[in-house]
Amino acid sequence: MAYMVGLDMGTTYTRIWTQDGGVVLRCPSAAAIDSETHKLVALGAKAKEMLGKTPQDILAYRPIREGLVSEFEVAARMLRAMFRNKQITSTFNRPVVLLATPYRINQVHQLAAENTVFEGGARAVAQVPAVFAAAAGAGLRVSSPRGSMILNMGGGISEIAVISSGGIIAAHSIKVAGERLDSAVISYLKQRRNLIVGDATAEDLRVSIGSCDKSIDRGSMKVYGRNARTGLASCQEIYSAEIREAITPTLTAIMKGVAAVLEDVPPEIASDVYDFGLMLSGGCAHMPGLADAIRKATGLRVTVARNPRDCVINGLGRLIQHPELWGGALEYRLK
Ligand SMILES: Nc1ncnc2c1ncn2[C@@H]1O[C@H](COP(=O)(O)OP(=O)(O)OP(=O)(O)O)[C@@H](O)[C@H]1O
Ligand SMILES: [Mg+2]
Repeated sequence: MAYMVGLDMGTTYTRIWTQDGGVVLRCPSAAAIDSETHKLVALGAKAKEMLGKTPQDILAYRPIREGLVSEFEVAARMLRAMFRNKQITSTFNRPVVLLATPYRINQVHQLAAENTVFEGGARAVAQVPAVFAAAAGAGLRVSSPRGSMILNMGGGISEIAVISSGGIIAAHSIKVAGERLDSAVISYLKQRRNLIVGDATAEDLRVSIGSCDKSIDRGSMKVYGRNARTGLASCQEIYSAEIREAITPTLTAIMKGVAAVLEDVPPEIASDVYDFGLMLSGGCAHMPGLADAIRKATGLRVTVARNPRDCVINGLGRLIQHPELWGGALEYRLK
């Protein structure tokens, strides 16, 4: 019997589901490689910490960008190491992988994703839209003819879909998610505070004191950076309202995306969506006030999924156990 594995290679996190263990791995999508020996020096959290700080002979990478494989060799290396994880290798040899990929991924990227997984050690691979898996993992009735709507907002990509009868009726992928919000924080602090901070600090600020709605104030936080004029080290206290102001214009793209998808569906399905509302998943679903901001902008009732970060991987698990939930055929291709 084939050993089935679900794989969500996200921009920030890679997650693996197995038949015996459920979600057995959650690991930052990062790897550090020795440029001389080409050996893997660090994986996951350890490699993420090394980003931008490595000595000359070591290169730290994030091989997935905006939901797609951008560094093929590194991504394959990373997967091979992850598949070697005890909980996975002890129970199977060369797994059969169900991989989540962005909606309407083009053939070149589809092939790159497939080859990465083969290089990682898989025997066969099938791809399914991540946003559909997110809906299945969030507990939506994906095979029912009743229309339901999901927004999966991760680190590099946000996907919005209306789902009915095991298929996607309309969907939109937007390259606006956690990282773009962090870039907005970086630009804002540089312009308004003359403060230059790095990606990790920007994310820390957004996660710790950020909010998407005026009614939520999360205080302030002291951060270290560099003065944009003098170049000297600088410590400043940043306020929750500033982070909200920084990210609000970027969030508009998400609201527009939700409205655009609703415009693309037949009236009966739209009416189901207005009745049952929008499900919010992905890491950014944790952002305080996001559900309210979407509700105010679109008029939809918004529910945050339970355990939003794991919706895609849990959905892959559900689809492995109940492949009939996905109306299209799951085509497993052999290496
Ligand atoms: N508590 C939190 N508050 C705000 N943002 C959060 C929180 N927890 C995680 N995030 C954000 O969620 C994002 C990661 O989400 P997720 O793990 O769903 O992404 P991914 O699947 O790796 O990426 P993608 O699906 O875009 O390829 C990061 O930008 C992170 O900052
Ligand atoms: Mg994701």
